[in-house]
Amino acid sequence: MKATEILIKEHIIIKENMRSMKNLIEEGNKINAIQYSEFIQFVRLYADKLHHAKEEDIYFAWMLKHRPQLQMGPIGVMLHEHNLGRNYMSLAEQALETMDTEALNLNILNFITLLNAHIDKENGILYQIAEQIDVQTKDGDEVMMPGFHSVQSELSDIEEKYHKDVTVPSIESFNTGIGCHAG
Ligand SMILES: [Fe+2]
Ligand SMILES: [Fe+2]
Repeated sequence: MKATEILIKEHIIIKENMRSMKNLIEEGNKINAIQYSEFIQFVRLYADKLHHAKEEDIYFAWMLKHRPQLQMGPIGVMLHEHNLGRNYMSLAEQALETMDTEALNLNILNFITLLNAHIDKENGILYQIAEQIDVQTKDGDEVMMPGFHSVQSELSDIEEKYHKDVTVPSIESFNTGIGCHAG
């Protein structure tokens, strides 16, 4: 589905930004308030407002319409992890107010570890289940793309600010086989 490709592309951009930030922290660089603030802003705007909103309001919602039982399983877990990530970011924002670098680094690194694993689960399991649902229902893009387009035009400033040309691997290349019999 086109919708899955868009989300995977956003995952690549999110992972790239997280990798740069992680390197800065782990190399022991002196990171200034602007650099911390820019990373937090990227997470708040691109990862959460743009990407997680598409997942929660459109993609997961479409999956749940066809497979309500996923709420108690993988989708419930993904939603919980979105909230855990938001908590880490709130703690990082608080630490930024006093420039408490220890707490900033800790919460940002915790966030990055969480979100990297979260993205791998989405690419490898959840989106695979979505593709299987679409094989049966064939309505994924038809239902979801209008919503994706309206989020993208509503948030076009965020989209443009963080846009990168990236090559999107096929969804099959992430298949772990774990989601094969679900649904
Ligand atoms: Fe997610
Ligand atoms: Fe995601």
